[in-house]
Amino acid sequence: MTGWDLAVDFGTSFTTAATLAGGRAEVLEIDGSKYVPSLVCVDDDGTILTGRDAVNEAAMAPDRTERVPKRALVASEQVLLGERTVATVDLVAAVLARVAGEATRRFSGRPPGRVVLTHPARWQAGGIELRRLTEAAERAGLGEPDLVAEPVAAAHHYVRTGDAVPDGGMIGVYDFGGGTFDTAVLRRRRDGFEIAGSPGGDVALGGEDLDAAFMEILAEHAEALDPDRWNELWEAEGRVAERHRTLLRRDVTQAKEALSRLPAVNLWVAGYDDEIRVTRREYERAVEPLLARSVAELQDTVARAGTTPDGLVDVYLTGSTSRTPRISTLLADLLGHVPGMRDDPKAVVVLGALSTIPGSVSATQHVRLPPRRHDPGREPGHPPAEPTPPLTPVGFAVPTAATTPAADATKTVRRTASGPARTPRDEGLTVRAGRHHQQDSVPTPGPALDGDAAARFAREITAIAEAAGVSDLVNAVSPTVRAGDTAAAVRRPLVAAVEGVGVAIGSRHTPFPGLPPEVALQVLREGRAELGALGQALTRLDDLAERLAAL
Ligand SMILES: Nc1ncnc2c1ncn2[C@@H]1O[C@H](COP(=O)(O)OP(=O)(O)OP(=O)(O)O)[C@@H](O)[C@H]1O
Ligand SMILES: [Mg+2]
Repeated sequence: MTGWDLAVDFGTSFTTAATLAGGRAEVLEIDGSKYVPSLVCVDDDGTILTGRDAVNEAAMAPDRTERVPKRALVASEQVLLGERTVATVDLVAAVLARVAGEATRRFSGRPPGRVVLTHPARWQAGGIELRRLTEAAERAGLGEPDLVAEPVAAAHHYVRTGDAVPDGGMIGVYDFGGGTFDTAVLRRRRDGFEIAGSPGGDVALGGEDLDAAFMEILAEHAEALDPDRWNELWEAEGRVAERHRTLLRRDVTQAKEALSRLPAVNLWVAGYDDEIRVTRREYERAVEPLLARSVAELQDTVARAGTTPDGLVDVYLTGSTSRTPRISTLLADLLGHVPGMRDDPKAVVVLGALSTIPGSVSATQHVRLPPRRHDPGREPGHPPAEPTPPLTPVGFAVPTAATTPAADATKTVRRTASGPARTPRDEGLTVRAGRHHQQDSVPTPGPALDGDAAARFAREITAIAEAAGVSDLVNAVSPTVRAGDTAAAVRRPLVAAVEGVGVAIGSRHTPFPGLPPEVALQVLREGRAELGALGQALTRLDDLAERLAAL
């Protein structure tokens, strides 16, 4: 039997692991997800819970929870969780042991041949942070792992999967994660990358700050509706109130992430009858100063490395916050071309870490980046960019094979026995208790979205999919209206269909392979004026999404 290798990216908010066996690298799924929350929670009997167990327990026992063990590792030797004092290396060891255990199980209990751990570039060899990380690995039974800086690992992934960076060429890495923002400039050497200048970033800037900005917007809307209820939500004591706040924070994070794909989201806030709508436009306005700060930080890092943005072969994006479309736009303005983002921006670190294993890097192909409208031309020695051929979507779920969408869409809008479809309002709305988010949300008895209106929306979506040349990638839209249905229930499949068409457009018409479809879609949106029929289809799609969200 052949051996296998393990790489772990222990992040501030999420940890990702990947295995390499028989030349095949795979991101590990734990608890059904590739992103294991890094949060840990100490049980009543002192057991350190990880993953989903920790998340569940944390909702009930915030005092026994360490939300950011990576920060705790840097800040102190021990933390007080509930009544217990726990060594921070043990918290980290618990997370590492969990992912290593899950990986080992997949290889029939055989231990990995090699273990690679990634770390922020600013953690220096011999420093306390790396010493503690190494100790945590040892306590987790991982022996003495190889240590690789996160941006170096990401760069290896990009090179292994196609980008050519000539010897001596410089690249930038922009890593916007959950708790921190990191920048680095790397110089290509024949056997890998070295860090040029000093890495930069901001340990006090992360996706959490974007959550906070979103919460501020929500607070403004909620206070405009009813300030007392909002205060009550935050001031009430007891476990129910605590739980409402925990769930709202989670909803806010999810809604913020959804704004990378949707023009608007609706949230239900405990105590309010109506959903509260937040649009991408107002969110982008709110986070602009934070994003601008991150871009300025990258510019400083580039300057410290003795070069300019034009002197970089490319800038690679990593960290899940980098999925925010506005980030690609801001960086494209700085660079004159769309920055490099391929595959899952979080997983590139751990996959790249595996590539740093000797013999596993094969940088052979050259993928050129597409020109932007004002592309001043790539640096000398680089060929002018050319558009890449359309890509068949792979690796994410797009609904399959349409039949005859327009006909289907009309047919499947069901009518009540008594004639024309009745509006939810006719039937009386049932407002459900509990928390809801976005498509799960409590209905607003707004303007009627009856069967006829739903069918019209469905036909419009189908027509847009056809105009954009993606109707073969999306299913027929079938809003079903039943007696007693709520407006939200009728809207749900339509919103999903709009999102599906967007994903299909992003993947089929992507400016270059590997770009996540939501980012590709944003790039296409930016250049829509020059995209003819496709540009018009995008405008129609966005307009329709806004109208739907407003209902
Ligand atoms: N589609 C998305 N759009 C915007 N933000 C997203 C998206 N998906 C996830 N995020 C955000 O990304 C953050 C997590 O990023 P990531 O997992 O890369 O961080 P990390 O590696 O744990 O942290 P760090 O790199 O700071 O140590 C969270 O704030 C999450 O809300
Ligand atoms: Mg990270």
